[in-house]
Amino acid sequence: MAINTTISLPGDKSISHRAVMLASIADGVSELTNLNDGKDVQSTIKALQACGALIENDDKKLIITGTTLSNPKKPIDCGNSGTSARLLSGFLSSQGLQFSLTGDDSLSSRPMDRVIVPLTQMGCHIESNNGLLPLIVDASGPLNGINYKMPVASAQVKSSILLAGLGAESSSNVSEINTSRNHTEIMLHHMGATITVMDRDIRIEPLSSSLESITMDIPSDPSSASFFIVLTVLMKESQVTVRNMLLNPTRIGFMNILNKIGIPATISNQHHMNGELCGDVSVESSSVDGFEVSSYAIPSIIDEIPILAVLAALGKGKTVFNGIEELKFKESNRVQAIIDNLVNFGIKAYEQNNSLIVEGGTPTQMATIQSFDDHRIAMAFVVLSIAVFGDYKLDNKACIDISLPGFFDTIKEMLS
Ligand code: S3P
Repeated sequence: MAINTTISLPGDKSISHRAVMLASIADGVSELTNLNDGKDVQSTIKALQACGALIENDDKKLIITGTTLSNPKKPIDCGNSGTSARLLSGFLSSQGLQFSLTGDDSLSSRPMDRVIVPLTQMGCHIESNNGLLPLIVDASGPLNGINYKMPVASAQVKSSILLAGLGAESSSNVSEINTSRNHTEIMLHHMGATITVMDRDIRIEPLSSSLESITMDIPSDPSSASFFIVLTVLMKESQVTVRNMLLNPTRIGFMNILNKIGIPATISNQHHMNGELCGDVSVESSSVDGFEVSSYAIPSIIDEIPILAVLAALGKGKTVFNGIEELKFKESNRVQAIIDNLVNFGIKAYEQNNSLIVEGGTPTQMATIQSFDDHRIAMAFVVLSIAVFGDYKLDNKACIDISLPGFFDTIKEMLS
C-alpha cells in the first residue's frame, strides 16, 4: 500500500478557540472559515453562546457579531477541553463576568491552579476544588494588571493572563520560561490590541476601544497533519501534500525533528493569513533514525510527542525526549499512555530522569490500542498499527472527535 495524495484538513484548533472568543467581543461582524470541527472548539462556542455571544453557522462559515457578554445562567461545561477552561477563565474575567466552569472526568483532574494563582492576583475571586474544576469565578470587581513570571511553559496559562489583561485597569507583563505557541499575541495584535513582545516577555495594555473584527480562513492544523505526515513517512514509496498548513514556528517543532533526521519537507505557496505563516507541505517516505529532543524544544512539539514516539518506535536506535513532565498533565498522562501502548506492541519504552526513552524496533504483535480516552494517543497508535499491520483495534474511536472527527475518512482517502 502506498500513499500518493494531497489532503486538506480542518483549521488549527488553538487558533479556532482564540478567534471565536475574540470575535465575540469585537466591533462588528467577523467571518471564520475552516474552523476546527472537533468537540473542543464546540465547547468554546457553546460557552460563549451561554454568555450571549452572537454566533451563527452559515454554510461553511461561522459568522460572529461582536456584542457585550453577560453572566451565563448555568455552569459552563468545557467538556474535555483544557484550552476552553483555561482561556475562558481569563477571557470571561476580562468581561467582568461571574461564571462557573466544569468539565469531564479527564479535565476535572487537570491542574487549574496555574490559572487560578495569576487570575486571583489580578483581582478575580475564584473558588475551586483544591486547584481542580469546578471553578466558580467572580470577576465583577476591578481587575488590576500583573507582572507574572510563569512557573510552567504553557500557552494556555499565558493566554489566560493576556486575555484577562484586556479588561484590567493597568498593563500586564507575562514572562515565559520557555517559548510557547503565540497565537493569542498574533491575533490580539492583528485585531488592534496594544501588545508588545520582546523575546519571552509580553506586555498587554487594557483595551481602550473595541477589538477590530476579523475575517480568517483558518490554516490546516499542523498537530492534526502530523499523524498523516508520519504515516506517509512510515509507508513505502509514499508521498503526501498537506494543503495550506499552519507554519507558525512555535508549532512545527516536529518538522524540524524530521528535517534533522534527514526527512525534509518541501514547502510551497508560503503566505501569511492574519499574521500567521502557512503554506503547502510535502513529505515522502523514509527510513527513520533515533533522535534526541532537548527540554527546550518540548513546547514546540508538546501535542506531537505521541506521534513522534510512534515514529521513533519504528525507527533505528534510541530516541530520548527530555523534560517531559508537562506531558503528564494532558488529556491523559501521555507519558504512561505512550509507554503502555508501545510495550503492548512489543517495543521497549520507559521513563528515566524526567525523560521518555523509546528504543526503535519491530512491533512483535498487534495490540488493542488503549486510548485512555485521549484523542492524540488514539490517533498516534492507529498510525503505528496501520503502518505495521495494515489494520488496528482501538478501545474508543469516539475520543478522536475531540480534535479531528474526519481522521478515519482522511486515512481511508490516503490509502485508497
Ligand atoms: C494549547 C496549548 C498547549 C497544548 C494544547 C493547546 C493552546 O497546552 O497542549 O493542546 O491552544 O494554547 P499548554 O499550553 O498547557 O502546554
